[in-house]
Amino acid sequence: MGMLDHWHPVLRAGELGRKPVAVKVAGQPIAVFRTTSGGLGAVADACPHRRLKLSAGDVAGDRIRCRYHGWTFDTCGNGESPSTPKLSACTTSFDVREEYGLIWVKSRGSDAPFPDVRMPGYLHICTLRHTIPAPLELVVDNFNEIEHSGTVHQTFGYDLDRMHEVKVRFEPTERSVRVVNVGPTKRINPVFGLLLNVRSGDLFHDDWTTYFSPVYSVFDHWWTSPDGARESMVRWRLYIFFVPVDERTTQVVSVTYAKSRYPGPAGCLRLFRRLLSRKIDEEIRADVEMLAHLADFDPGIEGLKLSRFDRVLGLTRERIARLYRGESVQSEK
Ligand code: FES
Ligand SMILES: [Fe+2]
Repeated sequence: MGMLDHWHPVLRAGELGRKPVAVKVAGQPIAVFRTTSGGLGAVADACPHRRLKLSAGDVAGDRIRCRYHGWTFDTCGNGESPSTPKLSACTTSFDVREEYGLIWVKSRGSDAPFPDVRMPGYLHICTLRHTIPAPLELVVDNFNEIEHSGTVHQTFGYDLDRMHEVKVRFEPTERSVRVVNVGPTKRINPVFGLLLNVRSGDLFHDDWTTYFSPVYSVFDHWWTSPDGARESMVRWRLYIFFVPVDERTTQVVSVTYAKSRYPGPAGCLRLFRRLLSRKIDEEIRADVEMLAHLADFDPGIEGLKLSRFDRVLGLTRERIARLYRGESVQSEK
């Protein structure tokens, strides 16, 4: 399979109204639109007549209409020209779905599995989209390694002075990579600590698995007392999708859930949803801001001095190449 053969979340559902919207996946510009009868369409974002962006046009009934000369295309890409009715003017169309509050696209006809983003028993906190000026592999590296949490993050991660105590375990399979970390939490905002019932010296548990069709990681975060007897009042589950926009830009789409042990409906989390959402946004922005300072965009790891946390880089690269990009590579266990 090639990159576009996998399902990619490209927009939050609320971002697609009556006007077509331009997105890009793996360098392919795509115009996504809603038909007036409520269907969805996704077509190559260049009119086959004289290459105006179809996303600059509008929707007429169940067709997207080019702004330049008014040619229209249905959701299968079948075109009609008002000036030359007998002309066959078809364009590439894509599979498109709306699920979990997101708009997803992929190539027509591939049989890629659709990711399951439900989390029964948890409350949905937020769905966010961040654009990072770095290639896919470098962004995945950032989200798949916890050593940077000592410096970059405020809430989720480990105390820099005790980073050497953090245990890390890798569990690769042919199609996934699991990483399990546990160690002394970093000091977190006292009000937040009180709300979560996290105390100084507690252990932070960070357990995630990365999959490769499409490329996404599923994170579980929670805290316990050092002896494991007391657990934080809130647990988090995050789905992070890594969508390559082009060779130098990656979009990170995150769907966050949380579960609380406080009494009351949804463990009172609805009261704090805005605060928790802001916290997630802050943490991802911290990664975005930090990655803007990469010295170069070379996704290679040869020649780097890697730490004990970085074994994951080789594991994910091999699977991105083989399972996501569809390249033939030797499997690394
Ligand atoms: S360029 Fe689209 S109709 Fe002419
Ligand atoms: Fe991070």
